[in-house]
Amino acid sequence: MADITMDKMVGFCKQYGFIFQGSEIYGGLANTWDYGPLGVRLKNNIKDAWRKRFIQERNNAYELDADILMHPRVWEASGHVGGFSDPLIDCKECKTRHRADNLIADFDPNAHPDGMTDDEMVKFIKDNKVPCPKCGATNFTGIREFNLMFETHRGVLKDQKSVVYLRPENAQGEYVNFNNVLRSQRTKLPFSIGQIGKAFRNEITPGNFTFRTIEFEQMEYQTFCKEGEDMKLYDYFKEYGKKFYMDLGIPEEDLRYHDHEKLVFYAKAACDIEYKFPFGWGEINGTHNRTNYDLTRHQEYSGESQEYYDQETNEKFIPYIVESTYGLDRTVLAVLFNAYHEEKLEGGETREVLKLHPFLAPYKVGVFPLIKKYHSEKAEEVYQKLSKSFMTIYDDSGNIGKRYRRNDVIGTPFSITVDDNTLKDNTVTVRDRDTMEQEVVKIDDLEKYISEKIKF
Ligand code: GAP
Repeated sequence: MADITMDKMVGFCKQYGFIFQGSEIYGGLANTWDYGPLGVRLKNNIKDAWRKRFIQERNNAYELDADILMHPRVWEASGHVGGFSDPLIDCKECKTRHRADNLIADFDPNAHPDGMTDDEMVKFIKDNKVPCPKCGATNFTGIREFNLMFETHRGVLKDQKSVVYLRPENAQGEYVNFNNVLRSQRTKLPFSIGQIGKAFRNEITPGNFTFRTIEFEQMEYQTFCKEGEDMKLYDYFKEYGKKFYMDLGIPEEDLRYHDHEKLVFYAKAACDIEYKFPFGWGEINGTHNRTNYDLTRHQEYSGESQEYYDQETNEKFIPYIVESTYGLDRTVLAVLFNAYHEEKLEGGETREVLKLHPFLAPYKVGVFPLIKKYHSEKAEEVYQKLSKSFMTIYDDSGNIGKRYRRNDVIGTPFSITVDDNTLKDNTVTVRDRDTMEQEVVKIDDLEKYISEKIKF
């Protein structure tokens, strides 16, 4: 269980420059958050970790950066224009608006509203007298479906013809480029297209910090394959996803699978990976066997063939897609909750420490002159040398203990002290954030020493 509540995490992120309320000086804009200097580093390092596991280390895997704005027909073909909505319900007493599925899931964690129709959800709420979380009354309106797509307009005329949408997911950019990647990379099935990018959803219900926002980033991964190979790949990516989170440092007991009972009509299987947040289990990833639905729809709506020609069997067919999608902001949040610790030290002092995987840490190393007057010049030399290879922080204010604490709380895995020995024999002491043990290392060996320890 995390050592920190959600409210405290929001304060922590603000204090140390990880995440700030969006448009804060204007009172904030609901469900928007800005990443500060340390948050950006952490987020970029998670992207790099994902790129390493999903693009670099996998055969036949290609990255894409498709535009946020796409032809409006894309969203008709994908089904988003007609059917991408949340079931909203209002409390008649206090007028608060809720998502009916969230009301049910919060009331009874064993109920599975994702498998219920709107009528079934209304019946569940009535039969179980589910109370309004704000006022406690059990007097709700019926459910209205609310479309989550953000619309905007291009050109000068604000009419129907000029409507474009901010994409609600990355996946469609990967689907419409299926043929481009296949041809330009001279590849064969199965192959994967991955993309990291922003997505936008008009979420109007409370967000639990960055868990549910209106603008967020996804790391999406689509594997195109032949029918018959799909379920094997689906099982593989479920496992691969869990392993990825464990590699980021999250223990298995704080992760679980949630297999979907009720599937959209075209899907063959779907499963989420959930993380144990302080507010309960929450989805951080989804793996879906989408069959050949997406490419079939794009063929139908665009008039362009999406068929694959298999040279070995002389067959033509529309490939299946196995999707594995990772919410970047939710991953950042899970990683932060997992890393934050409060430790009681001898003498009663409490140490706040962010035990991030070194690869994810915003700064890899801190450099401190023991005594400013005598050791600054050499310490600056060490700082200049290391900052060519790593995000390095220089700190010469306050006593050395305080400088260690400042590095612990932002997750810097190594703190280097430059002292009289450094001036004598070009060695420094390197303190490990987690064990607090110190080791003497030659300045010339530092780069290799740190590189080895921060590998992902
Ligand atoms: N292409 C499939 C797709 O978009 P999704 O389950 O709707 O599937 C994928 O979204 C992931 O994006 C989720 O697992 C979650 O981690 C993240 N996500 C979805 N909505 C979000 C929101 N409003 N705020 C932050 N992250 C969100």
